[in-house]
Amino acid sequence: MAMHPQAAQLLALILLLSTGDGILAVGTPSTIITRTCAAVGRSGGQLGYEYDSCVGALSADPAAASAKDTRELAVVATSLTMANVTSTVLVVEDLVKNLGGCLRYYREMNRTLEGALGDLRAGRVEAASDKLLEANQDPDRCDLLLFEGSANKNPLGKENIYADWLSQLAYAIATLPAPDPRHRRQV
Ligand SMILES: *[C@@H]1O[C@H](CO)[C@@H](O)[C@H](O)[C@H]1NC(C)=O
Ligand SMILES: *[C@@H]1O[C@H](CO)[C@@H](O)[C@H](O)[C@H]1NC(C)=O
Repeated sequence: MAMHPQAAQLLALILLLSTGDGILAVGTPSTIITRTCAAVGRSGGQLGYEYDSCVGALSADPAAASAKDTRELAVVATSLTMANVTSTVLVVEDLVKNLGGCLRYYREMNRTLEGALGDLRAGRVEAASDKLLEANQDPDRCDLLLFEGSANKNPLGKENIYADWLSQLAYAIATLPAPDPRHRRQV
């Protein structure tokens, strides 16, 4: 079967690309990379630079593939570190902003709970229930803030779930039907 001219062109293009420098650089790390990674290689431990992770980190950067000596590789490693710091700073900034929002929500929740306590002690059960329901929204607001944050991290997941559950429990207890006065124990 004769090959369609366009398919033939595509095949030629693929062959050309697969023998090009770009593909080669990704597939086989340069000698300077493998030598350098072998030289700094220390196994295990917190300070180990595993050979494979070294080669992986460096060969992901096109500048490392064309590096001629270790000094140029050190430049690449430093630039990679800088890119990492930049992304970490963005993560921290986003977390600080959203944790600040959570702080406001939880302080507000505390004030609402204080009000609910006052109402409960004064026998205003309905007003207390309304406040408990309102307080129950705050952990969810915090959770949503962190969920939508660009940092993609939620350091308060556990706390939010617990505060949500506990305030819901308080609400459920507060809204139980009043006991029959005839069965009320003497206190
Ligand atoms: C920086 O390193 C972290 C892992 O510690 C990684 O999740 C992140 O993607 C890196 N950022 C960049 C820009 O390389
Ligand atoms: C919450 O309110 C109670 C009672 O007023 C207070 O003791 C506590 O310190 C408050 N917590 C916060 C975080 O405001």
